[in-house]
Amino acid sequence: MATLQYAESAQRVTDAAQIAATLAPLGVTLQAIPLTGAGAAALLAQPQLAAEAQVALLAALDEVFQRLQREKGYQERDLVVLYPGHPQLPELNARFHRVHTHDDEEVRYIVDGEGVFGFVLEDGAQVELTVHAGDYIHIPADVEHWFRLNDAQRIKAVRYFSARGGWTPHYTDRALQHFPNP
Ligand SMILES: [Fe+2]
Repeated sequence: MATLQYAESAQRVTDAAQIAATLAPLGVTLQAIPLTGAGAAALLAQPQLAAEAQVALLAALDEVFQRLQREKGYQERDLVVLYPGHPQLPELNARFHRVHTHDDEEVRYIVDGEGVFGFVLEDGAQVELTVHAGDYIHIPADVEHWFRLNDAQRIKAVRYFSARGGWTPHYTDRALQHFPNP
């Protein structure tokens, strides 16, 4: 279950309807999609996945992709696998733990571990949304956001794309407020 944390007040929200209502003005949506793919569980349990195992995991989860292809027109998907000691963690953190936008939407299905997406609400308040396995998040194009891992430093997420190349980050240089690390 996702948790929303406010920076200034340290208020925490766990009610799904309240989280949805808070993010709705940004067009950000969150859905729960149960992980049911045959054979997925054993692959998800591994912290790291070799290339062949990543292909097998995507195949096991492709019922979701096929539905999104039909309903949303997404054409491609790939898998992000991050774990403690991943050689690119510092570089990736430097890229995405800054307020940015993309020309294309950002669509992620969290299938293992946890991740933290941050947003700027219409009144300027900053919030961080911790998402877990089974959470599917959609961030529209041009919406300011950031991403970071929490202390567990472990996530597997499927990324869905309608067009390649539209997700290069454009940094807005907005200063991040302080958040406790959930
Ligand atoms: Fe992003």
